[in-house]
Amino acid sequence: KKIVILISGRGSNMQAILRTAQDEQWPVEIAAVISNRADAPGLIFAAQQGVPTIVIPSDAYPDRAAFDAALQAAIDAHAPDLVVLAGFMRILTDAFVQHYQGRMLNIHPSLLPSFVGLATHRQALKAGVRIHGATVHFVTPQLDHGPIVAQVAVPVLPDDTEQTLAARVLEHEHQIYPQAVRWFIEGRLTIVDGIVRIAEVGV
Ligand code: GRF
Repeated sequence: KKIVILISGRGSNMQAILRTAQDEQWPVEIAAVISNRADAPGLIFAAQQGVPTIVIPSDAYPDRAAFDAALQAAIDAHAPDLVVLAGFMRILTDAFVQHYQGRMLNIHPSLLPSFVGLATHRQALKAGVRIHGATVHFVTPQLDHGPIVAQVAVPVLPDDTEQTLAARVLEHEHQIYPQAVRWFIEGRLTIVDGIVRIAEVGV
């Protein structure tokens, strides 16, 4: 199986996926890590691991459609089975999302459907929730609304700041995202009426 991972910055989730794939010897090829920013720190780690890196600078395109078309061409050149969004900070066009429907995953740092969009940790602190977390979901045209594959909950502590809460959530993102990708690779995920079913191993 082949995977392409899209990042915009730090890429710690991408790193977690690469490390887990290696440690657990997944039968996968990470065909490329693609960034829309040339200065994304995550590109350095990917290159050090011998993964081909590609930059498609989003600011060099006149509009979303032109950027997404270039991105799609770069991805499809590798014919991946799965596209993994890992801190890819771009709203994608419906045409792009539809092209990868059922084979593109995202991680969002909240317990969806709560707190869609940006600044999720600030939103959680403002709402006063006691439990926060992260969600891996299939990507659909409606932002942060696709079928949920995996979630993890973490406590919100009285002295939390956005930073401490983000760090606690991120640690768990690094557990659930590789696991969700692995489930996909193993062919265990199906979507029935918008709900993800996870088959037992060997079924
Ligand atoms: C993560 O919190 C992810 O959930 C969100 O953006 C952050 C990316 O972090 N979409 P990293 O680039 O994977 O380190």
